[in-house]
Amino acid sequence: MTNSPFRDDVLAGKSAFIAGGTSGINLGIAKRFAALGAKVAVAGRNPEKAAAAAAEIGSGALGLSADVRDYGAIRAAMEQAHHANGPFDIVISGAAGNFLAPALGMSANAFRTVIDIDLNGTFNVFRGCHDLLAADASVIAITAPQGENAMTMQAHACAAKAGINRLIGVLALEWGPHVRVNGISPGPIEGTEGMARLAPDATLKAAHEARIAMKRWGTCHEVAEAAVFLSTSAASYVTGTVIDVDGGTSKGDAARAV
Ligand code: NAP
Ligand code: COA
Repeated sequence: MTNSPFRDDVLAGKSAFIAGGTSGINLGIAKRFAALGAKVAVAGRNPEKAAAAAAEIGSGALGLSADVRDYGAIRAAMEQAHHANGPFDIVISGAAGNFLAPALGMSANAFRTVIDIDLNGTFNVFRGCHDLLAADASVIAITAPQGENAMTMQAHACAAKAGINRLIGVLALEWGPHVRVNGISPGPIEGTEGMARLAPDATLKAAHEARIAMKRWGTCHEVAEAAVFLSTSAASYVTGTVIDVDGGTSKGDAARAV
């Protein structure tokens, strides 16, 4: 694996549950965790996609089907993973939905749908995992620059991710000292569904890149490395925070317009 300071067994024996881990950034995290020795379970709505993700991850990964909007369903998936892999050392809430639309172009149901998947879904995953956690667990939400910055066409995602960012702080306070709760805020990441939706053509992509301090989009591997960091003893005093893995996206002009 390119440019990693982590030893190949740094997560050996750890049990990880990743909601929304069946594609994109979260699947990248799942694959990285498995490569570093973790026992991994991923969950998404589509059972075929979940099975394909598990096969791609390898190492006996579990691919489970559950909608994070349904507390009972996601809890049942977590119980299944707990039964197979043991108490969770790492839980990631990464399921999300997004589309470009101005606030006046969204029905009440459109706004509610994204709030339900991103924010309520994260509450469901976090609330549902607590009694299934190992001692000194790391719980991580995948948030976004929209959580800190207003962006046009993103009323739903901005509201949802801002809520997640505040939830991270509350749960860090309530669940310390034995559970650490943090977020990762990726910037634009290459080859993902999220960016296919937010920058659907080359002109928009180039405009994004020009405003990023690093002058390029990031990779799933770069996000996964932050998740590995948060899940090791290197982050033993890190809780209640959001780590930007965004090449500077959230600073300056890049924060403002989609
Ligand atoms: P993606 O490939 O579309 O991944 C979304 C995952 O969530 C899939 O596994 C999907 O599987 C699952 N999912 C969606 N709705 C769900 C639901 N209701 N219940 C359970 N699972 C559900 O997206 P991505 O672009 O990699 O984004 C992943 C995360 O990174 C998101 O939290 C996103 O906000 C964040 N992020 C992405 C970027 C980026 O550049 N892409 C930037 C900043 C933040 P099913 O469809 O089978 O349910
Ligand atoms: N503009 C405006 N409204 C939209 C929209 C768009 N581009 N896309 C969907 N909606 C509206 C729908 O019209 C519906 O509202 P209505 O009932 O008033 O007509 C509402 O959003 C819910 O849509 P629906 O398709 O029923 O929801 P779903 O639960 O099946 O799917 C989505 C959720 C819409 C978020 C879907 O895009 C999805 O599953 N996304 C997951 C993948 C993803 O977004 N990845 C990127 C993560 S950053």
